[in-house]
Amino acid sequence: MPFSLDEVTLHLCCPDDGAPMARSANGVLCEQCHRFYPLLSTNILDLLPSRPITFPGRSEPALYRQGYLTEFFRPSEIRADARAWGAPEARSQKWLRLRERQAREVFQFLRVEPCEANLVFCDLSAGAGHCTFRAAQEYRMVFHCDLSMDALAYASAKARASHLENIVFVHADYFQPPFRSSVDHLICLDTLIRGPWHETKLLRSIQSVLNSSGTAVVDFHNWWHNPLRRLGLLPDNFVGNKSYTRKELTGLLASSGIEQFQTQSFVQEVDPCAGPGKVLARFIPPTRLMVRLAGVRASLPQTAVERHEENGA
Ligand SMILES: C[S@@+](CC[C@H](N)C(=O)[O-])C[C@H]1O[C@@H](n2cnc3c(N)ncnc32)[C@H](O)[C@@H]1O
Ligand SMILES: [Zn+2]
Repeated sequence: MPFSLDEVTLHLCCPDDGAPMARSANGVLCEQCHRFYPLLSTNILDLLPSRPITFPGRSEPALYRQGYLTEFFRPSEIRADARAWGAPEARSQKWLRLRERQAREVFQFLRVEPCEANLVFCDLSAGAGHCTFRAAQEYRMVFHCDLSMDALAYASAKARASHLENIVFVHADYFQPPFRSSVDHLICLDTLIRGPWHETKLLRSIQSVLNSSGTAVVDFHNWWHNPLRRLGLLPDNFVGNKSYTRKELTGLLASSGIEQFQTQSFVQEVDPCAGPGKVLARFIPPTRLMVRLAGVRASLPQTAVERHEENGA
């Protein structure tokens, strides 16, 4: 790491009680409960809380809960042949090109004003690291967080092979994040898909991680964007997940305590920066809706993007 563990520790808190942490031999220590959180390798820190969250009654996503608990209690083992969700080895070139463009649009939306290079970035459900690796080139310190040890093992091996040294890989639960309201820029993509209870809890968590001038970009699926799907002519490849209309999204953000936000469309079919895509993108229903939100006490500046969305969407 190009920075010391002391420096990393300044941004962390104990996921169990929110107390500050102190540097210790081969890890960090909670100053209040004295729990020790070990470095699992030179750049993977195990900051998983002691206990998983408790889900409410029947309405919560059963499928997600099952996977969450399995992953939570899996031993913190770094497997050499680990694969992450979205690993390029298992995907087509077309899919990868789309992810590249999506990452570009996410960062343009996140860094809409000129910003310093000295910022702290966090991807709260980073998976294979598509966006983390890009962030490592633009931010000073990058936190790649995931509950899946395989995602962390896979992405950290890849970062090492690419000589990306400013990424800290964190074994974390996004419902109980180990950050001391210390993050400048955050993303959480392809994750707010489990239903209102999960989304609300995660959105509150995201707000708590940001510092007082921090900004996050998250995205929501608009699964019905394809008219053929609306007519029932396409198979349902989104079973068990939740897609949001603009109206539902506004309600969800309000009930998550988010009053100020900006939206921007991600259109799968055309690149809004290239050729005819510039015009066409305005008429094609978005595949995803990106939302930019601020930290708890921060406010979002008005942007050209927002004005475009307000007028055009
Ligand atoms: C659908 S993938 C998206 C990965 C990445 N954001 C992307 O867009 O490619 C969701 C990721 O969230 C992680 N995840 C699920 N529940 C989590 C939790 N409670 N805390 C942290 N990560 C979690 C999964 O392990 C997985 O890597
Ligand atoms: Zn503690």
